[in-house]
Amino acid sequence: MDSTNSWSIQHCKEFRDDHLPLLVICDSQSAGRGRQGRSWHADAGALTFSILDSALRLGLALEHVPKLALVAGLSVAEAIDDLIPPYSARIKWPNDVLVAGKKVAGVLIENVPQTQSNRVVVGIGVNVSTNFLIATEEVRERATSISEISGRHLDLGSVLVSVLERYHENLKTLAGLENSRPATGDQPKKCQLGFSELLSSLRNRCFLTGQKIRMNQGGQQILGRCEGLGNDGELLLATDRGVVAITSGEIVRIEGVS
Ligand code: BTN
Repeated sequence: MDSTNSWSIQHCKEFRDDHLPLLVICDSQSAGRGRQGRSWHADAGALTFSILDSALRLGLALEHVPKLALVAGLSVAEAIDDLIPPYSARIKWPNDVLVAGKKVAGVLIENVPQTQSNRVVVGIGVNVSTNFLIATEEVRERATSISEISGRHLDLGSVLVSVLERYHENLKTLAGLENSRPATGDQPKKCQLGFSELLSSLRNRCFLTGQKIRMNQGGQQILGRCEGLGNDGELLLATDRGVVAITSGEIVRIEGVS
């Protein structure tokens, strides 16, 4: 398969709403995609999958869909903590998962255009025991695998189950639901309340808090000290123009880190 995200988008319309959520998983991707148009390095030691879902089924108003990326990153981080104690995974906003300062997982969330129930694809890649020998130098410097960090062998299936369990629980919290879900046709519920319950976990894991960072936002560079996350999961940067809330953008550099 080229990419579980691409496959999910291409085949989305073959699945009815009551088929969702759909797990799309493969042994290897020939064209795995990362955020910002980058490629995603993976081999047989990487867990690569996507979940095709709909905002309607999740009880999410459209404006809250971007929060899914934060929730997916949080779920991966929690699963890693469960699997390799006493390590504690951090989240580099918006959704890179780091252990010991290096990236072990990433999330790529994409809306599928022109779908009635507002379909969304949540793609997750976890470096379980990925071999980086043939990766680019940049990837080799920034990435690691759970096995390399912990010295433990984990099979892909158990990592998948842990991530899905955490994700399932967090989605219920996000939508303010316990075990119910809205019947098709119901108005999506606002998830502000549910998200605020996840915020303290996200804030505790925020890798950037306190760091001086340089960001690229719509072609403009912003420099500031990260003050953590706002109530909607936005990144708060204290700049010389005051505190700026960043909802999207790319971190160009963490000052003081080579
Ligand atoms: C990133 O860190 O830039 C996001 C990486 C997301 C990679 C996963 S692997 C499964 C899914 N399919 C893809 O093509 N990408 C995501």
